[in-house]
Amino acid sequence: MTSGMRKGLTSYGDAEFSLFLRKAFIKAMGLSDDALSRPVVGIANTFSDYNACHGNVPKLVEAIKRGVLLAGALPMEFPTISIHESFAHPTSMFLRNLMAMDTEEMIRAQPMDAVVLVGGCDKTIPAQMMACASAGVPTVIVPVGPMLVGHYQGEQLGACTDCRRLWGEHRGGRIDAQEIERINERLAPTPGTCMVMGTASTMACIVEIMGLALPRSATIPATHADRLRSAEASGQFAAAMAVNGGPKPSQLMTKASFRNAMVVLQAIGGSTNGLVHLAAAAGRVGLKIDLREFDQLGREVPVLVDLKPSGRHYMEHFHWAGGVPRLMRELGGLLELDAPTVTGATLREVMEAAEDVAGQDVIRPRSQPIYPSGSMAVLYGNLAPRGAVIKQSAASASLMTHTGRAVVFDSVEDMALRIDDPALDVNAGDVLVLRNAGPVGAPGMPEAGYLPIPRKLAVQGVKDMVRISDARMSGTAFGTVVLHITPEAAAGGPLALVRSGDLITLDVPARRIELLVDEAALQARRAALGAGATAGAAPAPDRGYAALFHRSVLQADEGCDFDFLVPGCDASP
Ligand code: FES
Repeated sequence: MTSGMRKGLTSYGDAEFSLFLRKAFIKAMGLSDDALSRPVVGIANTFSDYNACHGNVPKLVEAIKRGVLLAGALPMEFPTISIHESFAHPTSMFLRNLMAMDTEEMIRAQPMDAVVLVGGCDKTIPAQMMACASAGVPTVIVPVGPMLVGHYQGEQLGACTDCRRLWGEHRGGRIDAQEIERINERLAPTPGTCMVMGTASTMACIVEIMGLALPRSATIPATHADRLRSAEASGQFAAAMAVNGGPKPSQLMTKASFRNAMVVLQAIGGSTNGLVHLAAAAGRVGLKIDLREFDQLGREVPVLVDLKPSGRHYMEHFHWAGGVPRLMRELGGLLELDAPTVTGATLREVMEAAEDVAGQDVIRPRSQPIYPSGSMAVLYGNLAPRGAVIKQSAASASLMTHTGRAVVFDSVEDMALRIDDPALDVNAGDVLVLRNAGPVGAPGMPEAGYLPIPRKLAVQGVKDMVRISDARMSGTAFGTVVLHITPEAAAGGPLALVRSGDLITLDVPARRIELLVDEAALQARRAALGAGATAGAAPAPDRGYAALFHRSVLQADEGCDFDFLVPGCDASP
């Protein structure tokens, strides 16, 4: 087994010449033979001027390099794609698999005995999990860490739960244009990821509980000195892994650790997107996330972390309350504590070392949960044969069982055009339906599932309605929103058959989502519609990544990965 600079030589038909040439070029960087004889730790740099969440990455890379050097190995920094939520058209999810492919192939193509992946903004850590699972090189993930909270008029503000809440107030005419501009400057006051329990925070907690990142590394604020010390330590552990040849990602990404991830996802009031990303990462190691098991876990695991959007606080408060290790102590027997971590310690040892903070009220005991059952429920029914998800902890209790008249939008564009039309026939008790916003139909399954309340209802003070779609929603959003309806409309799912005026029943306690139209009528509608085609679906692209995406993307319950990247996948939608 080759290692260091001898690894993965370029093919010229003469291995010794390949090494000779490689060393000749790398010596142009001023490296000595001593340096080039050391184990190599690659460091994926995801800094980008387009990605403010990763604004601290250069400092983190410097600290990681220091750790690698202190441990006697050679750090080699390299760039990969970086994705920011607000700077990715049509949606960041469209690019997640591209980043996963880029990261995997660069790990495989370049000589490295271990790798440190610096990620944070929503899709980056999921892409890195998928990449490292497939590349098989020992990996440490370093989350960039959350932003500090913002302040406005004595109130703490967080991106982007408060972005949405306050924009809703602006749409309803209760905050004027000048004030909303002032608020705009306060919502994201530092580099780092959104400081609520959105997708970025969720995925950071998930890689920590799965042992892919250092204890406490999910929650340390992006701007704190501890974040740099954690990065330095990550470099040191990666150097040790480079020498030892492990643990490899497949040794950490096991059935037990995915189960632990599902428990934590429920207990933190995590993002619904976390479920899609977990399914994608599991698929890369030949495992499947069982949505029924996830729902069952949710009945046993209460929401214990009091963070927005389900609760009150922000990530820095979770950190100072003890972070993920302290949460583990509350979860105790619900977790498989013999699971290993990149540090060599088991989760049990991490949990036993957790800091106890007297008087903290961010991490609740199981006897006093924020929400009595898990944050998410999985729904089935004639509208969602393969499942749909609702974040019940961030929904309105009064809408958990609701029957209403459907108001259908055929696409994201159709919704944007008509939602605020004063002539739109809509009442507060209706169910807003968005279709053709799934992995294939949109494409890329945008975060459009949080449909805005129609303006004419918003000005009357309506703050929540039942909304259903085959889209995703931001982990920072809240409301009675049913997401990820699978199969999606554009893949022939029954969502394509709904007509405005039909009745839809949502019954979260019974885990049902039903279209109250009889089967014969639905079959007639399907026949009239043709084989899976719907009016609002995006046309199939004929070139480039978009064509690859359209051809290969799997449905939400399979993580929206590409069929050809999943071992043993039969590629059926
Ligand atoms: Fe990057 Fe929220 S926009 S984490």
